[in-house]
Amino acid sequence: PFKGWMNDPNGLCRVGETYHLFYQYHPNGTDWGPMHWGHAVSPDLYRWVHYPVFQHPDGNLAALGATGGAFSGNAFTDRDGSLSFYYTERLPAYDLFKDYKEVQKRMRPSANLVRPVANQLVLDSTPPGASHDFRDPKVWYDESAGCYRMILGSAVDGDPAILLYNSEDGNEWSFASVLYRAPSRFREGGARCAECPDFFFVDGHWVLVAGFVGYTEAETGRHNLLYAVTGDFRDGAFIPYSDELQELDFGTDYYAMQSFWDGRRQLAFAWLFNWEVRKPEGSAYSGEMSLPRVLAVDDSKRLAMLPEASYKRLRQKRLDRPGESRIVTSLTDAFELTLAGTLPDIAIEGVAANGSSFLLRTEAGRLVVSLPEDDGRIVYRSANLTLKDLTLFFDRGVLEIFANSGVVCGTRRSYRMTDLVGIEVRAGADTTIARLEAWSLRSAWE
Ligand code: FRU
Repeated sequence: PFKGWMNDPNGLCRVGETYHLFYQYHPNGTDWGPMHWGHAVSPDLYRWVHYPVFQHPDGNLAALGATGGAFSGNAFTDRDGSLSFYYTERLPAYDLFKDYKEVQKRMRPSANLVRPVANQLVLDSTPPGASHDFRDPKVWYDESAGCYRMILGSAVDGDPAILLYNSEDGNEWSFASVLYRAPSRFREGGARCAECPDFFFVDGHWVLVAGFVGYTEAETGRHNLLYAVTGDFRDGAFIPYSDELQELDFGTDYYAMQSFWDGRRQLAFAWLFNWEVRKPEGSAYSGEMSLPRVLAVDDSKRLAMLPEASYKRLRQKRLDRPGESRIVTSLTDAFELTLAGTLPDIAIEGVAANGSSFLLRTEAGRLVVSLPEDDGRIVYRSANLTLKDLTLFFDRGVLEIFANSGVVCGTRRSYRMTDLVGIEVRAGADTTIARLEAWSLRSAWE
């Protein structure tokens, strides 16, 4: 945003030839506060124009000294083509962790999508055992069952969980089941609930995605992690292929992912933040979105994410030269680097004008990334992998990493380094780089 605070992507959809990105927005400050829905539109997922604030909290929360408001939610296109948004309203709250109430609403937008015209409360009580964290609805119509389905992020007896509701008409909802309950290690590691659940069918598989807020992984110190589980969805039950959860971002700055079908492919955006590092004092805004990503499920039934390919139109200058591992970039451009081959021992260092640098390297069969902000308390490392390809993007402090065709991803953003002056690729003796390609990327607006 130009100013104010932004978090989760909301209400993602394509209407005609226009993409709409709504988002959690606090216009009156650069920290989280009473939640509005901001709004931006784009013809191509890369050039975004800001629109007026779309949705306001129900009541003047600032005057009450309260927080809450229009929390996260999704767009839903009904069988007759009409669009509505299901979202959560947190009623005026005076504590961030206890004694709040969250209800689900259905809102219909004006034909030009600039303001809500009808807003209806559709669900206001939690099922037995569920916590007061009860939010972030995603709705779809289930053809085979002939009913509407809704999932919500919550916790059941303390375990992060995703709840399933059914409806005949999209307005009256009845609790069906706990669609998914996280293994107890998440509760034990401090997780309070599941947030922003996403559930979609891609490449013949069902994929469930959610973030577990409050969780800290003991081995690395990383927290608020995002996971996917692939499986089957039959007769209202989700049957995971495996008990394992796939970690979606080893860098942890890719959270509250929301995906949508644009008529051609399943696309996703996420909020690039983790609460760990704050924007420096005095900044006019806080919050960035990821690159648009295309989702797929690979042969090993894992979710793969790759940047939507039309960014390639922004490629400006090829920067690599045969046999050279030191690549000099310019001060202002965004940057893309791809390596492929047998890459067991590799290090990529990006140096900024002020001398600070990021380092992405392999270590004991994992990818590890560090930034100038890091003090060593948290280790940003991936699961074990045999590295075959690696693509990274650097754009004004935002680093998005895609490995092994997007099955392993890592995202981080630095506020201490914004522009790269050079990047160096170092390879160990047993490493063969079959392909190296580096590009500067121009502004989407040029
Ligand atoms: C995730 C989240 C959601 C909630 C929203 C509030 O970042 O906590 O669960 O709806 O942000 O802004």
